[in-house]
Amino acid sequence: MPKYSLKINGEKRSVEVDSDTPLLWVLRDEIGLVGTKYGCGVGQCGACTVHVDGSATRSCLLQVSQAEGMKITTIEGLSKEGDHPVQKAWLEHDVPQCGYCQAGQIMTAAALLESNPNPSDKEIETTMSGNICRCGTYLRIKQAVKTASK
Ligand code: FES
Repeated sequence: MPKYSLKINGEKRSVEVDSDTPLLWVLRDEIGLVGTKYGCGVGQCGACTVHVDGSATRSCLLQVSQAEGMKITTIEGLSKEGDHPVQKAWLEHDVPQCGYCQAGQIMTAAALLESNPNPSDKEIETTMSGNICRCGTYLRIKQAVKTASK
């Protein structure tokens, strides 16, 4: 099997997998970073969102061969102590219910604020609309994104 060199959360990691293996499975099964979740596997739910070169990216859709050389950040690497402004706002607003989708939600929100530090309500809604939450925590998500943007 081919070998791929990846930059994940600031560390170089090497994996031997088929070239079309989704990054999601590499992160979870090969590297052991299970904070990134499998929801749908077809780019519809956002649970698998990570940052690739700073952009929110669905890791179920990105093949490992496409991820080589790119800077990958997972929820485990977003901050050292869980103290990213988005993570702190999530705690302040007690956002999660079951929690399954939350890593993806937080990664999408963090990427939004990186590119747009003071988004409008509409921009928050539009950006976050691709991340599905079965518990319906959307109002708290929006409030937390607004808090993190202050
Ligand atoms: Fe990737 Fe749903 S698991 S978008």
